[in-house]
Amino acid sequence: MGSGVRIIGISGGSGSGKTTFARALQSALGDAGSVILAQDSYYIDQSAHFKGDGENVNFDHPSALDFPLLAEHLALLKVGQPIRVPIYNFASHTRSRQYSPMEPRPIIVLDGTLILSQDAIRPHLAASIFIETPEAVRFDRRFRRDLTERGRQPEGIRKQFERQVKPMHDLFIEPSKAHATEILSGETDFRPHIERWARSLT
Ligand SMILES: Nc1ncnc2c1ncn2[C@@H]1O[C@H](COP(=O)(O)OP(=O)(O)O)[C@@H](O)[C@H]1O
Ligand SMILES: [Mg+2]
Repeated sequence: MGSGVRIIGISGGSGSGKTTFARALQSALGDAGSVILAQDSYYIDQSAHFKGDGENVNFDHPSALDFPLLAEHLALLKVGQPIRVPIYNFASHTRSRQYSPMEPRPIIVLDGTLILSQDAIRPHLAASIFIETPEAVRFDRRFRRDLTERGRQPEGIRKQFERQVKPMHDLFIEPSKAHATEILSGETDFRPHIERWARSLT
């Protein structure tokens, strides 16, 4: 007998609308029935390599993330075991020595840009949604977020997008949409889709 835990992947490029969709879906499913797990918690500690804004470390390449650990955690949740989610600090590029405990729930909403590109992650997903949004829109949304919420400089944001975000998107993220159960436009009203998915999952 399985534990009845299902993992639903929400993917798409940075700025596509993944987190917006994932939060709305989780909220529709409720806290007793679901929880969000973020790929971003699984960044590998980069403090030893980081030089400056938009330089050196490629945070958009799959090797920046601890996918083996994420795969292990998904396997544990599926057999009804709790996990210790790593805590990553975006300002210092370090993984904390602390972690946040997560209990399994009937639905785990997994939010991440690269989850569908990973052979070790895809088999764990019961279903997946890819949010497809044009590059110019994604850039614009990301630019605003990094400026206002992450205290970044305009030049650093532009340089990182051009050198890392765009090439890694084109190489890993865009092709991975072929694995999605459903592709949705990131410029539409998500509400009817949230309702439909929430219904199909409960
Ligand atoms: N369907 C949508 N229509 C319009 N704007 C959206 C939509 N989804 C998200 N956004 C906006 O786009 C920005 C990035 O969304 P977010 O969910 O954080 O993207 P991601 O997690 O994929 O990087 C946010 O400001 C959000 O409000
Ligand atoms: Mg996000």
